[in-house]
Parts: sequence; C-alpha cells; structure tokens
Amino acid sequence: MTRSAREIACDVNAEIRVNDAYANLALPRALSQHSLPARDAADATSLTYGCARWIGFLDAVVGCAVDRTLTDVDGDVLDILRLGALELLINSAPPHVVNEWVNIAKKRTPRASGFVNATLRRVSRATAEEWRERLSNELEGDERIVALTSHPAWIVRSFESVLDSAEVRELIDANNTPAVPTMIALPGLAEPPLTSERGELSPFAFRAQQGNIALVPGVREGAVRVQDEGSQIAALLLAHAAPIDEGERWLDLCAGPGGKSALMAALLAQHNGLLVANEPHEHRAELVRTALKPFGDTTQVVSVDGRDIRTEFDSPFSRILVDAPCSGLGALRRRPEARWRKREDDLIGLTLLQRDLLHSAIDATSVGGFVAYVTCSPDPRETVDVVTAVMTVRGDVAIVDTPSVLQEIAPSVEGARRGTAVQLWPHRHNTDAMFIQLLTRTR
Ligand SMILES: C[S@@+](CC[C@H](N)C(=O)[O-])C[C@H]1O[C@@H](n2cnc3c(N)ncnc32)[C@H](O)[C@@H]1O
Repeated sequence: MTRSAREIACDVNAEIRVNDAYANLALPRALSQHSLPARDAADATSLTYGCARWIGFLDAVVGCAVDRTLTDVDGDVLDILRLGALELLINSAPPHVVNEWVNIAKKRTPRASGFVNATLRRVSRATAEEWRERLSNELEGDERIVALTSHPAWIVRSFESVLDSAEVRELIDANNTPAVPTMIALPGLAEPPLTSERGELSPFAFRAQQGNIALVPGVREGAVRVQDEGSQIAALLLAHAAPIDEGERWLDLCAGPGGKSALMAALLAQHNGLLVANEPHEHRAELVRTALKPFGDTTQVVSVDGRDIRTEFDSPFSRILVDAPCSGLGALRRRPEARWRKREDDLIGLTLLQRDLLHSAIDATSVGGFVAYVTCSPDPRETVDVVTAVMTVRGDVAIVDTPSVLQEIAPSVEGARRGTAVQLWPHRHNTDAMFIQLLTRTR
C-alpha cells in the first residue's frame, strides 16, 4: 500500500514513541519500504525530525488547544495533532493543511477525526509567536522552559552554566534547526570535491549537497564519510599535538562506531604507524572493523573495557584518544529525539567512568606522549570537572594549551577557548559542542 510523506511521519513517530526507536534508523527503513519519490522523502524527513525535535513546544500548544489532558489522548491521535501543529506553526503551512490531517485521521483513527479537526483549527487560529507569548504568560517553572525551548529544563540549565542567556538562546535555536550534514574526505583516500562548500575548521571537511549522500563520489568505497567537523577536529588536535614520528602506535580507547578511528588511521598511515581501536561492545566493535577496512593491517581492533587497557598491552602508546561515553548534550541538533531520552541522573555513573577512562589512558601513554580527553557534551561535570579531578591526584601529567594547537589547524577560528581546552559550539562553529583537552605524560 502506498503511503504519503505525512503517513510515513505518523508511522515513524509512533515507532519512536512506542518502541523507543531512533529516528535516523526507523525513517530510512520506512522510506525504503515504501520507495517514496525524493521530494516526498524529504517532506517525510522534515516532518518526522521536526516533530521529534519540537515535541516540548508542540505538546504545550496542543495541551492548550484540547479539551482534556494530553495523557487522555490516544497516542496515534496525539502524533497526528503534533504533526499538524508542526506544519501549521513551525513549517508555516496554510490553515487548509488541517484538512490533510483530518483525512489521515479518518483513515487511521476514524472516531477521532472530529476531535483532530476541532483541535487543529484551534491551533491554527494563532501564529507560533502568539502561541509562545500565551505559553510564556500561562506556564511557569520547568513547564515554561520546556514549552519555550523544546528542550528538557535540566539541559537548558546545563547550557546556562556555561553560556550567557543570549548565547543559550542561539544554541537552543541551533539545536532546533536541521543541520546540513558535514562530510570528510579521508586524507590519502579522497579530496573534498572542488565545487563543494568547504568546512571552516578541518581541511578535510565539506558540506553535503542536497540529495542522496550515498551517491556522493567516494562514499561507497569508504573514502568519503559523514562526520561532524568537531569530531574531525578532536582527532586532528591529537595528531597535531606534536610532529608525528615514523611508526608511532596510537590508541583510540572508546572507538565505536569508528568515525574518529578512521581519521586517525588515515593520518597515521602516512607515517607507517599502527592504530589500535578499542570498543568493548561487540556490535559496535564490528562497526569499527568496517570503518577501518580501507586501512588493512595498519589498524587493529580490540574489545576490552577501557579501564583495563593497560593489562592488554605491554608497551605504552604515544597518543591516546579518550572519546568518552557521555551524555551527548553537544549533538542534539543531529539526533532529534535524543534530548527527551536523556536523564540528568545518568551523569553520575558517566562521570565516574569518564574519570576512570582518563586515568587508564594516562597509565597507558608513554612519557612525552599525549592524551586527548574528548566529550560531545559541554556540561562542566563531564568536561572541566573530570580533567580537574584527574589532574588533582596525578603528578605525572601536564595540561597542554589546546586552543594553541587548534590555531595551527584552523588559524582563523574564534570563540573556541574554554580555559586550556577547546570548546566548539553549534551556534558559533556549526559543529557539535565538542570539548577537547590535550594532556601530556611527563614521567
Ligand atoms: C562517544 S562514543 C565514541 C565515538 C567514536 N570515537 C567515534 O568517533 O565514532 C563512546 C564509545 O565508548 C564506548 N564505551 C562504553 N564504555 C566503555 C568502556 N568502559 N571502555 C571503553 N569504551 C567504552 C561506547 O560503547 C561508545 O562506543
């Protein structure tokens, strides 16, 4: 049976809601199952991702427009209301789009079609700005924050602990705006296309153009891949910490799915080195093996708990990347539903693991060697606090002024210094909010 873009968006949002599906996996599955034309596929993507992203705002609006509490609304009906409100308020569709959603309701939830019609007509009577004003006046506390930012309140507070309020607003806007995917042309394997828009930080980055990324030259061979520019910079900072000697051995301690490993392997291959990529979870280790296939036996994949890495290898490594498991608060623009699944309590276990992994990496680094501590989160508990806690108890490691190393890679970069670390931001640098602190082993 053929499906419209709107129906696909209903299907995928139901999967996200009921089965905790990931939008970036469930949507391509649904699109290929129904082989939608490119334009409809783009519409389905915009609706699905938009709805997942804007749920905080949409539910607040729908909550005002319905004559009952939202928890009493059937899930499939709620998806239709959210998507209809998204089209009206965020995508600026004309009011007659309500008819489209009523027709969908007639097919999928016939008894609720009148309710959908009445609710969406109420939604359509005000603009997004007018709704924001109303929500701002009627709600308070965390509910108000969620409605106005479409982010959980604890995440907004986390951003507020690092940025002033004007920049928090810019960051929130960036997280609520679809990101154009950034690609990497792996050095030694490919060059960024001449006609492409180049990245501003990484020499290997370029922006994907409209269309199917799988068809970009080099993608099928694994020479060109999707990779955020901040991730590229994390690997490049470790590579630029000092000139690379022939035959160096590097370790990527937390490697899955292998994005940064691939860039490290490409850089190291030019110096006859060996990259060991460690990933304890077998299914992710398999992804690392696939990511490193083009580099053959200049790489090795192992699968142990990073806290025990020292016992696995007799000799130390000259550089180690610790791209630690983290809350991922820096990648919200690329993972539309992720913000609603994260819990502040998760930080307790994560920060303990992050400290242990950083200690373990320093233990496994040779004297004079380098460690890059990296998180895709700007939260102080996962970033500066972890580095400070580790530095306080160790006498064998020194901080490297990481923004100075970044200057060599991207001389015109601004606004990336956070003390001695590099902090990139979606709204300043068009990257994920990556935190990178280089350390060097002194004895
Ligand atoms: C932020 S991701 C790494 C992303 C990767 N560097 C890339 O660029 O593709 C963190 C990884 O750490 C792994 N991990 C979780 N616990 C770990 C542990 N105890 N030791 C090492 N790695 C761990 C996770 O499975 C996850 O794949």
